[in-house]
Amino acid sequence: MTPNNTPSYKASIKQSVVGLVIFAVITAGVVSFTRLITAERISKNLAQAEAKLLYQLAPKNEYDLDLNQPLQLAAAPQLGHLQPFTAHLATKNGQPALIILPLTTKDGYSGAINLLIALSLQGEIKGVRIVSHRETPGLGDRIEARKSDWLQQFINRSLSNPDKRGWAVKKDGGDFDQFTGATITPRAVINVIKRSLIWQKTTNEQFNNLN
Ligand SMILES: Cc1cc2nc3c(=O)[nH]c(=O)nc-3n(C[C@H](O)[C@H](O)[C@H](O)COP(=O)(O)O)c2cc1C
Repeated sequence: MTPNNTPSYKASIKQSVVGLVIFAVITAGVVSFTRLITAERISKNLAQAEAKLLYQLAPKNEYDLDLNQPLQLAAAPQLGHLQPFTAHLATKNGQPALIILPLTTKDGYSGAINLLIALSLQGEIKGVRIVSHRETPGLGDRIEARKSDWLQQFINRSLSNPDKRGWAVKKDGGDFDQFTGATITPRAVINVIKRSLIWQKTTNEQFNNLN
């Protein structure tokens, strides 16, 4: 019998293999468990961050907004929603007053920009907040409400204010400011905001035609 073929040698190999398998199974379990906990925490944090932004758009002293009563809307690719999506309706004195829509544009300098827009039922913008983006710090990130007041210029604007031509950055002949050295990000945000106004108008028209 060669030393590699002895029963004790075989037993020790078997033991090592069993040990390795147990180690691999435990490690995989720990990794999956940690991932699960982290994913849950991330989605909870995101939901909390979004809730905070929703209440900035529909302040509690002015509107009633029940986050447990979302509106389910049909897919709207022009708003970045290829699948049915969730929006919110805020009421004032018991009457519907604001629709808050999530919007996504992929036309940012570094990809997707996610935002929330609050529209009055008459089609006026009552607020815009950036939820997430990957734009360059110091350039495109000035779209964020905490970095500049750029979003303020959309307040009370509508599809007719400015007119169609005006819904662009000044560099393209429109009414809205771009940033020095950064036009791509503002252009993307302005375009998706404009698309949301058109979406609201056509959705209202379809709804009115049903009645
Ligand atoms: C490293 C780097 C990062 C940039 N980041 C942004 C950005 O986040 N947003 C943006 O609009 N432009 C950004 N720019 C500038 C754009 O490339 C572009 O020059 C600018 O937006 C003007 O676009 P326009 O010529 O279409 O008006 C960046 C440029 C460089 C070199």
